[in-house]
Amino acid sequence: MLNFELYNPTNLVFGKGQIEKLTSLVPQNSKILLAYGGGSIFKNGIHEQVIKNLKGFEIVEFGGIEPNPHYETLMKAVDVIKAEKIDFILAVGGGSVIDGVKFMSAAVHFQGNPIDILQKRLLIKENTVPFGTVLTLPATGSEMNSGSVVTIKATQEKLAFGGSALFPKFSICDPTVITSLPKRQIQNGVVDAYTHVLEQYLTYPHEGMLQDRIAEGILQTLIEVGPGVVENPADYALASNFMWSCTMALNGLIQKGVPSDWATHMIGHELTALYGIDHARTLAIIGPNLYKVMFETKKEKLAQYGKRVFNLSGTENEVAAEAIEKTVAFFHTMGMKTLLSENAENFEKTADFIVDRFEKRGWKALGEKQNITLERVKEIVIMSY
Ligand code: NZQ
Ligand code: ZN
Repeated sequence: MLNFELYNPTNLVFGKGQIEKLTSLVPQNSKILLAYGGGSIFKNGIHEQVIKNLKGFEIVEFGGIEPNPHYETLMKAVDVIKAEKIDFILAVGGGSVIDGVKFMSAAVHFQGNPIDILQKRLLIKENTVPFGTVLTLPATGSEMNSGSVVTIKATQEKLAFGGSALFPKFSICDPTVITSLPKRQIQNGVVDAYTHVLEQYLTYPHEGMLQDRIAEGILQTLIEVGPGVVENPADYALASNFMWSCTMALNGLIQKGVPSDWATHMIGHELTALYGIDHARTLAIIGPNLYKVMFETKKEKLAQYGKRVFNLSGTENEVAAEAIEKTVAFFHTMGMKTLLSENAENFEKTADFIVDRFEKRGWKALGEKQNITLERVKEIVIMSY
């Protein structure tokens, strides 16, 4: 097993009715910026619950954080935080609102131009504004990790950054919030979390036996609850297992001591930046083709995945190939359309565009073995047409 450090200071407060704990979780006497998205929290009553449980605190609200949050919007929030002398930020929303708040948290006291945080992928280790979250959409794991993804609208770039100072102080995860989610967003959540596990699991054989078993357990749970939770989000057993699986898929635990890939996400982010395709849907387009193109270096883990998660039998090559097909079938069950042509128009130059961008950024070797070269990226994207 590789050496590792496990540091995760987020206080995860999980379960029905836990929003009531807000009063004691937010530091006393804080002046709070309540950050939210396009307004779903007003329709489903979450805003009302949050306000009710923040009696006595001074609150300034900032709404309009869009899905795949824009740097331009977030900088407006940074101005509000400075002008209002805010000392605690509360994100109420999905991954986009939480990621947006992470950017604000890092940008307020940043010396220099905050766009560098994104374009130079700076590690944020100090000088942040503390923040907590009330999660409304299980998917990204952002509620218990220190990463964030922000889009610069002006340049159509979707860029990831993070650092140890960007863990939420607390995250309230009440599974009953999912009842107001559109089906499409629940489907997205399942597929995003599923792919997070695959990014950290479908690499090459290693000695992290426990990490593999936990990863397989998350995959099996998502397969078990995914289709049902889309149809019946009010079923608490399904909702709570879905929410917990999403958090566990990307809170850092299964990544410790093992190699990880993340190329599906890096390519997928470009599809969102170019065509506005939902994050999870870009992963369903790219992931399976990446496993096909990288078959030779991933086949041992693909075969393990096929045997343990789908109970397949046969030769290593057969099981590995069938496991990819089973993955695509699961994505279809979860409402994904796995071709780029089914998700975007005028996409014929996508592969060249992405390769060119990666080349300019110096991203010439991706994946756990750094063997996903630009030629392979091109092959993967073209296979996805
Ligand atoms: O904006 P509002 O009105 O709140 O509506 C949102 C939004 O339209 C809606 N929604 C959220 N909770 C709801 C709800 N509607 C009804 N009832 C509720 N309870 O859902 C829509 C999508 O929300 P969004 O936050 O964009 O979705 P998600 O949580 O999937 O986040 C996606 C973003 O996270 C990034 C993605 O790239 C993308 O930008 N990621 C962040 C990661 C991280 N920080 O670790 C890792 C991921 O791989 C991912 O890249
Ligand atoms: Zn993701």
